[in-house]
Amino acid sequence: MDLWKFGPINNLIQRYKMALFNWSNQYSVNIKQIDEQHKILIGIINELHDGMKAGRGKEVMGPLINKLVDYTVFHFSFEEKLFTSNGYPEASSHKNTHAALVKKVNELKKDYDSGKAILSMEVMNFLKEWLSGHILGTDKKYSSFLNSKGVV
Ligand SMILES: [Fe+2]
Ligand SMILES: [Fe+2]
Repeated sequence: MDLWKFGPINNLIQRYKMALFNWSNQYSVNIKQIDEQHKILIGIINELHDGMKAGRGKEVMGPLINKLVDYTVFHFSFEEKLFTSNGYPEASSHKNTHAALVKKVNELKKDYDSGKAILSMEVMNFLKEWLSGHILGTDKKYSSFLNSKGVV
């Protein structure tokens, strides 16, 4: 049988099923609890992406956006408590970055709730960049400091 013929179809199926945001080791900040929280945030963004592709309505997407906002606030304050208890020198600029990110995701929520915005691929890519950019560009800076304080 010419199984190779099915290759392109399998690729298409694979692409359709593929999550928007895949965790990989490059995202690890080397602190177990924080990696787990980042994975949960990635999971919520993937759920939103799946819902968008499936054309889910407000009754599904609205609560998912709320979940993203709430978990983001929880996660950021978790990091900030670690900064305070360990005397992280970059705490204040990191906190400013968090505040800006919360503002952005709250704006998105407001625009979605009021019907001003829909969840498009553009919005999904924005969310992916919003989180991956922060983990890679800002969170990773605390790894060695917090590790040296015994936070692992
Ligand atoms: Fe952070
Ligand atoms: Fe983080």
